[in-house]
Amino acid sequence: MTAERKPWTVPMLAEAKQAGRKLAMLTAYDAGFARAMDAAGIDLVLVGDSLGMVVQGRTSTLPVTVDDIAYHTACVARGLSTALLVADLPFQADASPQRALDAATRFLQAGAVMAKLEGAGHKLEVIRHLVEREVPVCAHLGLTPQSVLRFGGFKVQGRDEAAAERLRREAREVQEAGASLLVLEGVPSPLAADITGALGIPTIGIGAGPHCDGQVLVLHDMLGLDSGHRRPRFVKDFLAEGGSVEGAFRAYAEAVRSGSFPDDAHSYR
Ligand code: KIV
Repeated sequence: MTAERKPWTVPMLAEAKQAGRKLAMLTAYDAGFARAMDAAGIDLVLVGDSLGMVVQGRTSTLPVTVDDIAYHTACVARGLSTALLVADLPFQADASPQRALDAATRFLQAGAVMAKLEGAGHKLEVIRHLVEREVPVCAHLGLTPQSVLRFGGFKVQGRDEAAAERLRREAREVQEAGASLLVLEGVPSPLAADITGALGIPTIGIGAGPHCDGQVLVLHDMLGLDSGHRRPRFVKDFLAEGGSVEGAFRAYAEAVRSGSFPDDAHSYR
């Protein structure tokens, strides 16, 4: 018999950090995969705008719409009973506080518990606006895919000291603005470790080394599917290890919780 698990809530995330309990997060876009993730003990599920690349076959996340995320959030929500569901604000849906609130309200009404948005700067006002209106927020810093045009590609961020210092500052700012969770993508491990140690909210790494409070991977990547894009260094095929889809999710959750993923071969220095 399997022990009953309590559904994740927002306050439980900070408690997990204090207890040193690592968080395993994956992206999902439909009810079937969401159900398998829930059964395998995945803690958080993200309906990411990565769906533009892995589901819709586009070259970036920029064309993804609020309708797309709302549709997939409703599908994923039907598959979950314990994992906490996060939905991504797509490109420009967070360009103003009111637009962000309108979109995030749709996502929460579709079953999400938290809205994720990329960046700091003028987004700090958006974070405050959402949090003051009862929308829990997950921030996202580092290699933010919606900045691909400015970055000139999907490139690791925070490599020089000025850029690292800016990321440290932005991480403090998103926490102060009220974010409950922070995704750190594509940053050197020592910098992610510094940021994780300085914050009270959990950090979730993707290409950010082993010292974050949790990890996230894109579903298609961790199942070893070729989505037609260059495979980043931090991606690991857990299907090969787990032997089945649910086995892959279990192997990933165990590897995140034990700290064996990501290792040096799947991190940047
Ligand atoms: O869109 C997405 O899937 C994401 C994750 C890669 C963090 O933002």
